[in-house]
Amino acid sequence: MADKIFDYIIHGGDYNPDQWLKTPEIIDEDMRLMNLAHINSATVSIFSWAMLEPEEGVYNFKWLDDLLDKLHENGKAVILATPSGARPSWLAQKYPGVLRVEESGIRNEYGVRHNHCLTSPIYREKVRNINTLLAERYKNHPAVKMWHISNEYCGECHCDLCQEAFREWLKKEYDNDLEKLNFQWWNGFWSHQITDWSQINSPKFRGENHVPAMKLAWRRFVTDSTISFFENEIAPLREITPDIPVTTNFMRLYDGINYQKFAKNLDILSWDNYPAWDRGFNEKEACSVAFVHDAFRTMGKGKPFFMMESTPSLVNWHPVNKLPMPRRQELSSIQAVAHGADSVQYFQWRKSRGGHEKYHGAVVDHCGHENTRVFKEVAHLGEVLEKLSDVVGGRSDSKVAVIADWEESWATQYFCGFNNEHREYFEECTKWYKPFWEKGISVDVIAMDDDYSKYNLVIAPFLYMLKNGTIERIENYVKNGGSFVTTYLSCMVDSDDLCYLGGFPAENLKDVFGIWAEETDSLPEGMKNIASYNGKNYDVVHVCDILHSKGATVLGEYETDFYKGTPAVTVNNYEKGKAYYVAFRNDDDFTRDFCEELIKEISLKSDTEIKAENGVSIRKRGNIIFVMNFADDPKTVILDKEYKNVVTGESVSGEIALDVCEYIILK
Ligand code: GLA
Ligand code: ZN
Repeated sequence: MADKIFDYIIHGGDYNPDQWLKTPEIIDEDMRLMNLAHINSATVSIFSWAMLEPEEGVYNFKWLDDLLDKLHENGKAVILATPSGARPSWLAQKYPGVLRVEESGIRNEYGVRHNHCLTSPIYREKVRNINTLLAERYKNHPAVKMWHISNEYCGECHCDLCQEAFREWLKKEYDNDLEKLNFQWWNGFWSHQITDWSQINSPKFRGENHVPAMKLAWRRFVTDSTISFFENEIAPLREITPDIPVTTNFMRLYDGINYQKFAKNLDILSWDNYPAWDRGFNEKEACSVAFVHDAFRTMGKGKPFFMMESTPSLVNWHPVNKLPMPRRQELSSIQAVAHGADSVQYFQWRKSRGGHEKYHGAVVDHCGHENTRVFKEVAHLGEVLEKLSDVVGGRSDSKVAVIADWEESWATQYFCGFNNEHREYFEECTKWYKPFWEKGISVDVIAMDDDYSKYNLVIAPFLYMLKNGTIERIENYVKNGGSFVTTYLSCMVDSDDLCYLGGFPAENLKDVFGIWAEETDSLPEGMKNIASYNGKNYDVVHVCDILHSKGATVLGEYETDFYKGTPAVTVNNYEKGKAYYVAFRNDDDFTRDFCEELIKEISLKSDTEIKAENGVSIRKRGNIIFVMNFADDPKTVILDKEYKNVVTGESVSGEIALDVCEYIILK
């Protein structure tokens, strides 16, 4: 598949005219309004199954035929959805086995969405059937450009079929060898040896939930069954519409499914972006969102990347739904494009009249006209996006990678010990991403089994579990001249959470890092140690390792407690490269100061020579530079030379002021 699907930025979103078929004039009005708002695309039929198949085997495609024609006549690209995310009630009534069984063992009743068994052969067959019909009917429709598969896959099912599928999955995973599984899960502990595969059930609160290896296996199984469900969904599409690319919308850092694995099956990576703006932590939120964009961009390994959903104003599902200030959503949308997205899409085009999401932000409000603040902002952004076609397909070339591995996020949650209150894996990864984001240095967010060789620096915070091959991967990377950083509680267990023997970090990594981590201390809330580094003192909070240098240079030391004077930060020259170990957690400035030294040491350059105060994010995509003010006050930006303002066409140079939520796009 191509590295770009469109030659322009997609501006559109979820469109549900199937809710408005009784008032066709509203659908006509939608076309007028879409044109006014510079909307060039619509995602349709996401939850339309009951409209398409009102009774089993009785189909009604007429409304969709008309809709696609109408969208096409109005020049809109259609992203056509498969409707498996919600199902008609007749289907659940006739085939209750399609419904999901919760951990309690009780089968859900019909209702809500995402409420289906991933294994159910009937559900899979019904999904395949409706998808086949959609593909056959619209394979040559000129408006249809992309498939949107289901919606936000999530959750799991504990029915008998899923239990059986889990056992079959385990047999494959452990070479049909129960002894191997017993060993890897360390089932001698608490007499948990399994003597027949049928004794294994999914992890449950009221059952087995203290075997980390089993919990890891279950998450891997849920990932694989979701992917297999997806593959079943797209099989007819691949056959009938081989040239129409597929995506499914991911959810921020949702870790119920290993997205990094799922990404391989997609043609386009996409996610739904709902930041919590204007609550007093905009800068932090901007950095977190940037991190997520970069994670999905990187996951695609060069495939196109879309922001499939965002709200043009507020959401309805935060505990308290604050209105983002004027221009905030525009800035948020521009940020997506700056980080590689080829689309800005909304949930939703028009507010529904009833139901659960009627107060969720939309481009068109219940008032029904274009004279609203939100509509005008969307229309304005639409005009801006039309001037940004050049960025489509543009990539960034990162020299720095932060490892944020979905499976690591599971492993760091599942073990019991040390500080059980503070794990926050992805937050830790974001903390190490931030210093580079602040300096306008592009970062890839990778999995631990990705290729490290193209980076000058790889940072792996809290690399507790090592998947197969990771030890060699780190060793080779450093040997060949790479700089590698890891932190506390790292390199301790294999992919089944089985501890490495012989001391941490595991095996050869003791030589690579030149240290031995003998003990780990945990600090109750409010207690801290101090680490000195480069003439400054930093708080040590939550957790820290006590190290011995076995050849590493000590860069920082603990200042109190019985381990006062022992190493807290080390670096080891290992063949051509350097391996750093930061033995403690700090929630303030340590990462910034430490990374500043690394940046000097490795001679990393910011992607541009433009200078700005903190709170301003500078991001280069292809040859276009985005300068965005996420701070809560106006900021000054110093341009290093004359640029062209891509939106206004004017030349700009010298010092410029960016108001709150203001951005400038330069070439
Ligand atoms: C998700 C879903 C949408 C909608 C929005 C609301 O992202 O995919 O259908 O429910 O949330 O924010
Ligand atoms: Zn099931």
